[in-house]
Amino acid sequence: TMRNELNRLVQTVSDPNAKRVFDVEMQSFFYLFTRYLAERAKSHELDWDRIKSPAADQIVPYDKLPTVTSPDALDKLAVLKVNGGLGTSMGMTGAKSALEVKDDMTFLDLTVRQIEHLNTTHRVDVPLILMTSFNTHEDTLRIIKKYANQQLRITTFNQSRYPRILKETLLPAPTTANDDKKSWYPPGHGDLYNALLHSGVLDQLIAEGKEYLFVSNSDNLGAVVDQQILQHMIDSQAEFIMEVTDKTKADVKGGTLIDYDGQVRLLEIAQVPSEHVEDFKSVRKFKIFNTNNIWINLKALKRIMENEGMDLEIIINPKTTDDGQAVIQLETAAGAAVKHFKGAHGVNVPRSRFLPVKSCSDLLLIKSDIYSLKHGQLVINPKRMFENTPVIKLGDHFKKIQQFQTRFKKIPQIIELDHLTVTGDVYFGRNVTLRGTVIVVANEGQRIDIPDGCILENRLLSGNLTM
Ligand code: UTP
Repeated sequence: TMRNELNRLVQTVSDPNAKRVFDVEMQSFFYLFTRYLAERAKSHELDWDRIKSPAADQIVPYDKLPTVTSPDALDKLAVLKVNGGLGTSMGMTGAKSALEVKDDMTFLDLTVRQIEHLNTTHRVDVPLILMTSFNTHEDTLRIIKKYANQQLRITTFNQSRYPRILKETLLPAPTTANDDKKSWYPPGHGDLYNALLHSGVLDQLIAEGKEYLFVSNSDNLGAVVDQQILQHMIDSQAEFIMEVTDKTKADVKGGTLIDYDGQVRLLEIAQVPSEHVEDFKSVRKFKIFNTNNIWINLKALKRIMENEGMDLEIIINPKTTDDGQAVIQLETAAGAAVKHFKGAHGVNVPRSRFLPVKSCSDLLLIKSDIYSLKHGQLVINPKRMFENTPVIKLGDHFKKIQQFQTRFKKIPQIIELDHLTVTGDVYFGRNVTLRGTVIVVANEGQRIDIPDGCILENRLLSGNLTM
């Protein structure tokens, strides 16, 4: 059985200290696994008819928040970035946050700039905490090393490493505790709460007098500390605040806040019965989605962890390993914790607080002249005449970061671009300018090279083109 196999894994660790730590980790995993089995037996699904759109007081509009005059509350704040993911959808094998996004700086460097600026402007000492995984730990340390002698305090801690589960047998994939990397997985950002507790970081923060934790994804460059939200959290005594933002037609997948029997809950697409998926995606019934910018009261978190514990909805993530094995990963999402906290609610924030890089199309936009940097924050270039940013759709040839890097000799100038679609085998030279609507289509077996210095304005290029 799973229990026996986990015990056997624990026995493969010889160092007593390491053994104890690993044992605790396997126990947490086993708890998740038994919950998975129990729910599977019940075919545990939400009762769709009981799901309501949240009430007006469950989502507070950002422009109703108090204006803040004193920075005092910042002394009680710490900032945490969840940084355990790989960015697999962009073909990355290391931490996504180690990617250079702007002016030779990585996501992590920009986050450091943002917090340094906050601290110097207000003369406060907000620490930065990074949650890494066994996949991202080394990349992360390599980048933050250069800040070791700076004012800003940076703490890192590792999230859990759980065994992948063989789909056929429901037994663990690894055979020893130090089995190959591919036998393990980081169980989603919902692991944050366990990892904060077990690493001792939660107690350390409370001991330092920190009361609030601002959590966000490490690839969200819009997630800067916002004093108004912090003040609102204090005034409303909410133990948990989730920043949500208005959904557009492009945001069909993100989780949403719902009212379930009067309680605020997170609803993820994975929990939606298949006959209601279209409903879930629609902008009409579910108007907002979760940005994963989350504000947590640390004492409340400690109380919950010590009493009922976190019971986060399990997301089943099926995968196929490189050697063709079907495995499943049991994961959880940080936002699902909303149901455990008193007074928990959403704040509907401007879209600018959600600026993630999910694809190479997002990366092109962020690297381009549409944005410039100010104290690590991306600001829209004042030369941009329109309020919206260009819509960019790069095809499958640009899916992986390496392809993206070889296909753009240099990032084109796009300050006057509205829409770009590129499909097929296309290469961009240096100093290319794109304006209006530009569509480039290389058909199967053809290649298009946009030459150095080329200006394309409202153009459709297709076929086997020589310019
Ligand atoms: P996700 O993996 O949930 O979303 O990571 P994504 O950015 O869309 O990732 P891909 O492209 O589908 O792979 C969101 C944030 O959560 C962190 C990631 O590092 C990222 O900042 N994360 C994810 C963890 O810290 N741990 C995990 O186990 C998974």
